[in-house]
Order: sequence, then C-alpha cells, then structure tokens
Amino acid sequence: MKNKVLVTGGTGFIGSHTVVELQNSGYEVVIADNLSNSKIEVLDGIEAISGVRPLFEKVDLSKENECGDFFKKHAGIKAIIHFAASKAVGESVEKPLLYYRNNLNSLMNILEAMKEFSIPNLVFSSSCTVYGQPDKLPVTEATPRKEAESPYGNTKTICEDIIRDTAKANAQLKMIALRYFNPIGAHPSAKIGELPLGVPNNLIPFLTQTVAGMRPELSVFGNDYNTADGSCIRDYINVVDLAKAHVVSIGRLLEDKQKSNYEFFNVGTGKGVSVLEIIESFERATGEKVPHKIVGRRAGDIEQIYADTSFSNRELGWKSGKTLDETLLSAWNWQLALNK
Ligand code: UD1
Repeated sequence: MKNKVLVTGGTGFIGSHTVVELQNSGYEVVIADNLSNSKIEVLDGIEAISGVRPLFEKVDLSKENECGDFFKKHAGIKAIIHFAASKAVGESVEKPLLYYRNNLNSLMNILEAMKEFSIPNLVFSSSCTVYGQPDKLPVTEATPRKEAESPYGNTKTICEDIIRDTAKANAQLKMIALRYFNPIGAHPSAKIGELPLGVPNNLIPFLTQTVAGMRPELSVFGNDYNTADGSCIRDYINVVDLAKAHVVSIGRLLEDKQKSNYEFFNVGTGKGVSVLEIIESFERATGEKVPHKIVGRRAGDIEQIYADTSFSNRELGWKSGKTLDETLLSAWNWQLALNK
C-alpha cells in the first residue's frame, strides 16, 4: 500500500510542485488548502503531469475545529508537509496579527493533531529569512539566526522554535524544517508554476510579466550595495529541485534515518547570484530583452545571502541540479502558458 502524505498548501507554488514529485515517487497525496492564495485549477495541472489527481479538501487549518474535522475524516496519513502559510513580506508589516494568527495557529493545530491521531512525521516550510543579514557567507546550519526583518520572517523563526520545543517534549514526533533560499522557476511542462495575485512583489514573476508586456519595466532595487555589480545577491533555487528535497526528507522520516527528532537543513544551490546577473541569464536563456531601470534600495532588503549546502547535500543525499538558465527559461515558458 502507498504511504499517504498530507500536503497543506498543496495548490500553492512550492506545494503543487512537491505534490507532483511525491506522486511520481509513489506516494498517495491528500491536499489541504483554503485557496486563499491559489486556484483549484492547479489540480488539473498536477493531474496532467503526474496522471493522478490528488485528493483535495478546502480547509482553513488555522481554525481548530476545521483542522480537527479534517483529520477525523482522513485516516491513515503517515506524514505531513506543512506549506500553508501567508508569505507576503510587505503585507505582514501592515497586518502582523493576520500573519501571527494564520501561520502560528495552523502549525500548532497540526502539531496537536499529530499527537492526537498518531501521525509522527512533519516537514516544515522554513526560510533563509531566519538568518537575517548573516555576518559570514555562505550560511551553514550552524550560522546563528538573527532577529527577523518582518512579521512574516518572525513567524518562520517562531514556528521553528515551536517545532523544536514540541520535538523535545514528544520523543515520538519526528520533524524536519527546510530553510528555503529563493525558490524560482516552474515545472518544465509549463503546466504548473507561480500564480501571483495582483502586482508581484518577487523578482522573477515581476520580470516575466515585464517581458510579457504586462508591466512597463522592472525596477532593480539598488546598485550601490557592497557586491561586485552593486545589486543584491540571493541563492535562487529551482522549484522542482526544491520539491525533490521534500521527497527525500519524507523518506528520511519514514525510514527512521534522522540523527535527532528535530533537524533543519538549508535548501539552496550554494551559489550567490545578483539581480543584474539574473537579468543577463534570463536574456541569454530566452533571447528576450528585459526592460529595466536602476532605482533606490527597497526597505527591508538584505544585501546578500547564499547557502552552504554541504550539510544538506551530505545528510539528505540531495543536491540542486538545474542550471540558472534552464530555470529562468522554465519561468518564461510558464509565463507564456499563462498568457495563452
Ligand atoms: C523575500 C523574503 C523571503 C521570502 C520571499 C518570498 C526576506 C529577507 N526575504 O525574499 O523570506 O521567502 O520573499 O516571498 O524577508 N528585486 C528587484 N526588483 C523587484 C523585485 C525584487 O530588484 O521588482 C530584488 C530584491 O531587491 C532582491 C531580489 O530581487 O534583491 C529578490 O527579491 P524577492 O524575489 O522579493 O525575494 P527576497 O526579498 O529575497
């Protein structure tokens, strides 16, 4: 019998790609999502790629009663990947309580359910935002976390702490937090990808919408940083590579390979890339020009961050594989598919 995995936020950007990889690896998937930032049609894309339509339940896991009802209805879940969360940095500054309520309550409800329904395994969606602007690069898992720049970032730090403490108090629970760097790109089939609602805040959807003619030009936020070309540096990880890190993490939990019952890993490429290098790579990969101008720095941006991935490569047996050019080409193909 197939192992059943619950994917919360499974119709979202990273969630949907992870559902595809799980199904391709022989897992049975049930998705729980409140569709607050995603569309039900994503299920069609998942089915078109993997040949399997996952079970879907529209549910708000931040509500205790809805969460409890969900777990009563769906027996036999062996592991959970918890993506469902609010993630817009700017919005979190405007509406901190919304972010704390949604992101913290849903995690705590899930942890309670894991105890009540004897589901031992959890993979949690964390972020490199927990490192702030590190003093030393690249960042390893031993790099100290810093105070978060935004309420959104703070929810990731607090959620990690909640998981750590819950693991300490409950030896039967086994948990992994994955600290994502900057997830970009889309499935090579262009049947699923990122679906930003309204004006995108993130670099790649704004860039592809600009090249598609939906925005006049891309603003490059600052060229006076202390980096080689003056623009900010990030570690851009292909979303399919990232999805595969979740599949190996689930395997690690189910096969009892953990070194302790709470572990956390960096999930990036290990390579720092500047905003201007992104534009260059996109133009090379697609043959399209990116209309852009340099503007002032964006408030709250850190100068540079990229991962040391040697620990996750070694421990998880996982490595990012796709090149930046092919990743940006996949983002462009997805934009073209969306516009059709
Ligand atoms: C942020 C969060 C990260 C979160 C992610 C997803 C922080 C420090 N980082 O990442 O935790 O997971 O959003 O929402 O809180 N840029 C431009 N022009 C644009 C847009 C972006 O030049 O129009 C630049 C930014 O200055 C930055 C880079 O592109 O240097 C990437 O920006 P973005 O895609 O927004 O991601 P982060 O801010 O790195």
